[in-house]
Amino acid sequence: MTYAEKLITALAANGTLPDSDFYELIRMRKSLGEEERELLGREARRKADSVYGKDVYLRGLIEFTNVCKNNCLYCGLRRDNREIRRYRLTKEEILDCTDRGYALNFRTFVLQGGEDPHFTDDLVCEIVSEIKERHPDCAVTLSIGEKSRESYRRFFEAGAERYLLRHETANEEHYGKLHPAELSMRHRMQCLYDLKEIGYQVGAGFMVGSPGQTDDCYMDDFHFLRELQPHMIGIGPFIPHHDTPFRDCPKGTLEDTLFFLALLRLVFPEALLPATTALGTIHPLGREMGIKNGANVVMPNLSPASVRGDYLLYDGKICTGDEAAECRRCMEMRMERIGYHVTVGRGDHAGFVRHGTSDF
Ligand code: SAM
Ligand code: SF4
Ligand code: FES
Repeated sequence: MTYAEKLITALAANGTLPDSDFYELIRMRKSLGEEERELLGREARRKADSVYGKDVYLRGLIEFTNVCKNNCLYCGLRRDNREIRRYRLTKEEILDCTDRGYALNFRTFVLQGGEDPHFTDDLVCEIVSEIKERHPDCAVTLSIGEKSRESYRRFFEAGAERYLLRHETANEEHYGKLHPAELSMRHRMQCLYDLKEIGYQVGAGFMVGSPGQTDDCYMDDFHFLRELQPHMIGIGPFIPHHDTPFRDCPKGTLEDTLFFLALLRLVFPEALLPATTALGTIHPLGREMGIKNGANVVMPNLSPASVRGDYLLYDGKICTGDEAAECRRCMEMRMERIGYHVTVGRGDHAGFVRHGTSDF
C-alpha cells in the first residue's frame, strides 16, 4: 500500500485524520496516481451509499435576478460588469416557475440571485409565503447573499427553511483577494451562524482553484466547516468570466474538484453534497463523476429559458438553452445511466450527528 493509500484508508475508516496527515493528503493531491484517486472516489461513494443508497436529491433552481450590488472579483454578475443584460423576474414569473416545477415533480425550490435591492424583505417574504401557500409540501431554499439577522428571521417566518451561502474561503487573506474591501469574511461567517441559530438548514461551500487559493486555504475551509457543521456543502471549480478581473486566471480542475468532493464525503458522511453546474461545465460528464465521488444532490435549472443565458457567473455555463422539462429529463437520464435515481424527497433526514476533535 502506498503512503497516500494508507492515509485514504485511514480517513475512510475513521472519518478523521490527524491534521498533519490531512494536510499531507491535500498537498499530495496533484501527484496521486490513477489507483489512488480511484480508491478515494470509491471509498467516498461507499460512504455516500451507506447513508443515502442510490438516491440523488433533486432541487429546482430558479435564478430570479442577475442584478447585484456587490463586486466579487470572480463573478460575472458583479456590479462593475456593464456588458451583461440585467433582468429580474416578477413575482408572477417566479410563481409560474414553481408551479411548473411542481408539475415536474420538484419538491424543493432554490431561489437564487444577486444581492438585488429591488427585492426588499417585504417582497421576498411575499414570494416565499405565496410559494408555501400554493405548495405546502415543498421546501423553499433562499440563496440571496448577506442580509441582517432580522431579515433572515423574517424570511424564515415566511416559510423559507433552507439557506445557501457559500463562505467562499475561510482564509482571511484569500478572502481579501477575491472580494473588494467592503466585503468581509467575518461578516459572511456571522451570517452563516445567524442562519443556523434561527433554525435554517444551511449550506456553505467554496470554489476549487480560485485565484490565490493555497493548501492552507483548503485546511482553513475544512476547519471552518467542521465548526459550522452545515447541512449542505456546495463546491465547484472556479471558472473565469471574460468580463471580470480574473478573466485570465486558470480554472479549477476536474481532478481537484472530485478530490475535494470525496474528502468532504469522508469527513462529513451525512452532508448534502451537490454535483454542481460548474462541475458539469468543465467536463461533459462532470456531474456524473461528482456523484461517483460522493455527491448526492443535483440542481436542474427551472429558470425561464428566455433569461437563462443572462445568469452567467462564468464562461461556458451549461443548460442555458434548455427548457425546465428537458433539463429535468436529461438529469434523470444521466443519473439512471450511472445506476442512480433522482428522488424528489426533501432529504430532511440529512443532517450532522458527528462532533469531534479539531483533527480530521
Ligand atoms: N449572490 C449570492 C451569493 O453570492 O451568495 C448567490 C448567487 S452567487 C452567483 C452563487 C455562487 O456562485 C457563489 O457563492 C460563488 O461560489 C459561485 N460563483 C460565482 N462566480 C463564480 C465563478 N466565476 N466560478 C465558479 N463559481 C462562481
Ligand atoms: Fe453578487 Fe453573489 Fe456574484 Fe458576489 S457572487 S457578485 S454577491 S451574485
Ligand atoms: Fe440541464 Fe442536461 S441537465 S440540459
